Amino acid sequence: MSGYSQIQTSIEAGVARIELDRPQQYNALNRKMVSEIANALESFDRNERVAVVLLSGRGKVFSAGADIDEMMNDNPIHLELLNQFTDWDRITKIKKPIVGAVQGLVLGGGFELALSCDLLISAAKTEFAFPEVELGVMPGAGGTQRLTKLAGRTKALEWLFTGERISAEEALKHNIINRIVQPEVLEEESLKFAMKLAQKPPLSLRLIKDAVNQADHTSVEEGMQYERKNFYLLFASNDQKEGMKAFVEKRKPRFEGR
Ligand code: CAA
Repeated sequence: MSGYSQIQTSIEAGVARIELDRPQQYNALNRKMVSEIANALESFDRNERVAVVLLSGRGKVFSAGADIDEMMNDNPIHLELLNQFTDWDRITKIKKPIVGAVQGLVLGGGFELALSCDLLISAAKTEFAFPEVELGVMPGAGGTQRLTKLAGRTKALEWLFTGERISAEEALKHNIINRIVQPEVLEEESLKFAMKLAQKPPLSLRLIKDAVNQADHTSVEEGMQYERKNFYLLFASNDQKEGMKAFVEKRKPRFEGR
């Protein structure tokens, strides 16, 4: 029993799965769901059986965004006291790679959740959008920042101002997603991809993610100093010894994450 009511979780071959589980509401993200996602991610981050997390949504749509029913009567003081975005901040602190698998529609907060993943695999014909502008609001969980970093100011402003849908092909072209697969093989292909990543030395994945995250807010020079320290740190691991020994001995390495 996972104890979660809005998501389903499982672990298989080093891959922990988190599935949004409100398909009747198009996986609209209520606050409980976001909090459960953050709790599950933190628990998988500490779990030695987990190397990679795969995040997906059940049903025909990945997520139609934040739950509008829940927030329609909100006021600024309630929002301030609720401090709901701390759960979103917790997602950004996860050290293990997060692969997202998306289909159907990826809207608003659902798009922001997808952009919180490290890599994204999308089913063909999936559409992405920030429709918040139609509701008299704007993205609040990182959408303006993350989309701009990936696609650049010009396209980000166009999409955020208009709320227009972005096709999977355009998303691929603008570095928003990593690859497109046929809808019927999305689950199989994304799981296969996550399992392949889970074979890599976990400490390398962790410190690569950590170093790449630095690139968001440091100069190249400072980032390179940071990278160097992570590079040195890996020489303290058994996996570095094993990886290089296996190469010299012409055999497959057996990584253990230490
Ligand atoms: N919040 C709450 N419920 C939602 C929802 C949302 N964001 N999106 C869909 N649903 C619910 C609908 O109310 C409906 O439930 P009922 O059957 O109980 O009425 C069910 O999901 C199916 O939706 P529709 O009947 O509308 O299905 P459709 O196929 O006609 O349209 C849709 C699908 C285009 C996704 C449409 O539902 C829609 O436009 N949804 C809202 C999308 C949106 O504006 N998202 C942004 C939210 S704001 C945000 O995310 C803020 C942030 O940055 C944190």
